[in-house]
Amino acid sequence: MVILMIGPPGAGKGTQVERLSRRYSLSKVGAGDILRQEVIKKSELGVKVEEYMKKGMLVPDDIIIDMITRRLDCGSECQGYLLDGFPRNQKQAQRLDHLLEERGEKIELVFNIEVSEPELIKRISGRRVCTKCFRLYHIDYRKPRVDELCDNCGIPLIQREDDREEVVRKRLTLYREETKPLLEYYRCQSKLVDINGNSHTEEVFRQISAYIDSHLTHGSHSKKAELK
Ligand code: AP5
Repeated sequence: MVILMIGPPGAGKGTQVERLSRRYSLSKVGAGDILRQEVIKKSELGVKVEEYMKKGMLVPDDIIIDMITRRLDCGSECQGYLLDGFPRNQKQAQRLDHLLEERGEKIELVFNIEVSEPELIKRISGRRVCTKCFRLYHIDYRKPRVDELCDNCGIPLIQREDDREEVVRKRLTLYREETKPLLEYYRCQSKLVDINGNSHTEEVFRQISAYIDSHLTHGSHSKKAELK
């Protein structure tokens, strides 16, 4: 099973993917997380992408596509993939379709997490992240047990460099121009599920899980009918 998560910066894609991957034994492939790991390691890839990320620009397609292609191999233990932050434009979407076709796989569901702009800004400005395990926190919505320290690793949490206000504005603009048009691409294929992401984390998780459960039981055509 391949599931995509689409939504503007700060919509809660990473937060949901973290939980969904555990519930459904899906391998999470978070484009931003993989890139950030490479930047921290100062690998060849990390050095190449760092400046794009700092400025809130998209990393060039060929780099990203190559990176994702190498990640889409989770072995026999997992039931499929949850893709967060990929694809982000038409070219990436077409390359993903092609790649999955070659492997005899296809995208089953695409979740579009919709959140109002003031709420996005609130979520992004309060976000804190662990640089070791990449667990996400929020200064109001998801506090660590000990102030400013990761619950898992015990190391200080940081604010992402691309979460500065001017960079966030750029990322939001890029989302509207490059990624939002993909919603129609997937809607036409009857794969898109709109989710109201303004509610609290638990409620958003409940909505998404209900669609996945229904899809697993009845297939794509009855997924709306099953959601209460
Ligand atoms: P990436 O890391 O993918 O950033 P993004 O898509 O902008 O998304 P975010 O990580 O900002 O937000 P999110 O939706 O995951 O929200 P989160 O769960 O953290 O990409 C970063 C950069 O990498 C890009 O700018 C680009 O340079 C590059 N890149 C990545 N993919 C690429 C691609 N395919 N092509 C080219 N370049 C690429 O939640 C946010 C906060 O809100 C957290 O603090 C969380 O605790 C809190 N929160 C979450 N849900 C809720 C809720 N329901 N209620 C209250 N608080 C909540």
